[in-house]
Amino acid sequence: MSELKPKQASESVTEMTQLLLPGDANALGAAFGGSVMGWIDICAAVCAQRHCRQTVVTASMDDLHFHAPITVGMAVTLKARVIAAFNSSMEIGVTVFSENPHTGERKLTTSALLTFVALDHEGKKLQVPALLAANEAERAAAADAMERRADRLARKDRGARWLALVQQPAA
Ligand SMILES: CC(C)(COP(=O)(O)OP(=O)(O)OC[C@H]1O[C@@H](n2cnc3c(N)ncnc32)[C@H](O)[C@@H]1OP(=O)(O)O)[C@@H](O)C(=O)NCCC(=O)NCCS
Repeated sequence: MSELKPKQASESVTEMTQLLLPGDANALGAAFGGSVMGWIDICAAVCAQRHCRQTVVTASMDDLHFHAPITVGMAVTLKARVIAAFNSSMEIGVTVFSENPHTGERKLTTSALLTFVALDHEGKKLQVPALLAANEAERAAAADAMERRADRLARKDRGARWLALVQQPAA
């Protein structure tokens, strides 16, 4: 397992461009959040698969922020990058920019963090390559990711009260 060759984030950076069409928009002519989330999931999954060269599944998506609306006709560019690699899981950061095709103006519209787990064809977890930090910024971001991972897993294990509440009939 540990003989996997460590990799740099630059080896798996993934970019994807969409055009926002009316079918992915809400009644205000702005992007439907679910469509953007779907694109984020795909872009991040390709990035994670490039890092580990295995099949991956989404374990979680968090820190999802819609900073600005994307209007119909805008080009939408997603960029995904490995922030940290753990044992069988990887944290991937995704940013989404809208681009006005007429003026070229670009705006950060969405950002998210996703965790993917590498699985074999029987669903067994697989070790992923370690991430080599190319500079101090990457080292610091990976250290932050370690803390986030601990928080995330603690929140999952805490057995949130809301999980039970949502399953009950509303009063
Ligand atoms: C994600 C999944 C493989 C985790 O399986 P599990 O048996 O709970 O796994 P473990 O507790 O052994 O953890 C395995 C890894 O996943 C990570 N993990 C598990 N749940 C997580 C969560 N909610 N968020 C982030 N990471 C998570 C663990 O930290 C661990 O990472 P590591 O190996 O790097 O240390 C499993 O829950 C699953 O298959 N979920 C469905 C995935 C899916 O269908 N996704 C598509 C979107 S609907």
